[in-house]
Amino acid sequence: MGHPILQQVAIAVTDFNTVELDNIIRDMYDTMASLDGAGLAAPQIGISRRIVIFWVEDNPRYPDIEPVPDTVLINPQIEFLDDSTEEGWEGCLSVPGMRGRVPRATKIKYSGFDATGNKFQRIAEGFHARVVQHEVDHLDGILYPQRMTDMSQFGFEQDGFPVA
Ligand code: NI
Repeated sequence: MGHPILQQVAIAVTDFNTVELDNIIRDMYDTMASLDGAGLAAPQIGISRRIVIFWVEDNPRYPDIEPVPDTVLINPQIEFLDDSTEEGWEGCLSVPGMRGRVPRATKIKYSGFDATGNKFQRIAEGFHARVVQHEVDHLDGILYPQRMTDMSQFGFEQDGFPVA
């Protein structure tokens, strides 16, 4: 938090299926795995490109959190499918040790490209939709505390809450 790259609008990817892109994605997976994250955006490892990854396996430590498919999402776009929002706890690898309650759209459609340049889209709800919105915000220079509406719900985490 506070690093200039995290405050910038990241640059779109124009070349797919390249060694450079594959190396960035591999670095992102290594970082996400080593920090036990649920997602990661390229600016979080100092690369201002519109690339996010996310993946949440079924985890008995977090029985309330639904699994999220293992995904590389490049040049993402989000469409909000209705006006409903819900509050939920978020943590972030770039805001270590903290968590906060953040309102997010409940149901979205997101689209983008995989690492080989194939376009895809999905409908997502709940925690899946939350993770995507959190990661795509990173590409627009936004960290989750900037989305909070009640700062009394911001504090130190104590139980290894998943971060993204
Ligand atoms: Ni984050």
